[in-house]
Amino acid sequence: MPLLAIETSCDETSVAVVHEGRVLSNVVSSQTKLHEEYGGVVPELAAREHLRNLLPAARMALREASVSADQIDAVAATRGPGLPSALMVGFKAAQAAAFVLGRPFVGIHHHEAHLYSPWLKGQPPVADFAHFQPNVSLIVSGGHTLLVHVRAELDHHLLGSTVDDAAGECFDKAGKLIGLPYPAGPEIDRLAEGGNPRAYDFPRPMIDDPKDDFSFSGLKTSVRYFLRDHPELLDDAQRLRDLCASVQAAIVDVLVTKTIRAAKRLRVGCVTASGGVSCNRSLRQRLAAACARERILLFLAEKSFCTDNAAMIGILAERKLKLRPAATPHDADILPNWALG
Ligand code: KG4
Ligand code: ZN
Repeated sequence: MPLLAIETSCDETSVAVVHEGRVLSNVVSSQTKLHEEYGGVVPELAAREHLRNLLPAARMALREASVSADQIDAVAATRGPGLPSALMVGFKAAQAAAFVLGRPFVGIHHHEAHLYSPWLKGQPPVADFAHFQPNVSLIVSGGHTLLVHVRAELDHHLLGSTVDDAAGECFDKAGKLIGLPYPAGPEIDRLAEGGNPRAYDFPRPMIDDPKDDFSFSGLKTSVRYFLRDHPELLDDAQRLRDLCASVQAAIVDVLVTKTIRAAKRLRVGCVTASGGVSCNRSLRQRLAAACARERILLFLAEKSFCTDNAAMIGILAERKLKLRPAATPHDADILPNWALG
């Protein structure tokens, strides 16, 4: 029987229907345009937009899956971490639906769900847990940069996270200094394509630190000073591309080096990556090359599952219900600061 999943932790309203590891529908309504003029996500606007979009998204998800509400066997939603007002909309709607339908409800950790999105492959997407193996997982988004040791299904350990800015935040803030619109990550990716990544030398913070933590605020600051000293550079299209490529190379170098180092230290034969920044083409190529060199298997989330989506919430919830008693009380509360264990 199918499971209905809802994700509203940040600025994507998403509803999915999954059934036995298969994604029957995954509707994502993105608010990026709405927040663009503010240069970041405005929590109250996000919550209001989730309220507006949630029911239409749910209707569409059920229709695309050819499933009626009374055929839903369980309901899941993101419980945290995330923006409190945004989380509340999806979480409370899901609880109410589960209560009215008399079905179990599962509250899901957003980052734990990201650990499973790289296993979704094919069309329609199916979770390939037959080939699941212990891995080191990189989760890189606008709000988070995490390195996680996934020892087995539903058994993980947080290795490290950012001590200041997230990798996506660094892309966005550096891009703002360069004059690019929010979110700047995709634009830097595009401009970097025609640039020389060795043109300018930016710091690779904590790259040699044996810990698995990250730091990106120093890199952003060095871009600020660099532009203060070379403002003329922004008027030259080729040098602008070189700048984007050089900033991107610094971020990607740190992410790839630390991920591969952790995988080798923990002797895992598999690396996975998800989160908005894992759409970055250079990161994908560099991870692929490094993993091939080290004979490590690489599972990158497909681009539609890199960014926030309810399919990953549903897939994990289904797995939890199957492998261990996992129901969350119908009156449980959101956990906006829920740490990944
Ligand atoms: O996972 P996501 O959609 O949302 C959350 O942050 O929760 O990630 C958005 C982040 C933004 O910082 C955006 O600039 C970055 O992912 N991003 C990229 C690319 N696509 C999205 N950064 C670099 N290259 C990209 N192609
Ligand atoms: Zn996310």
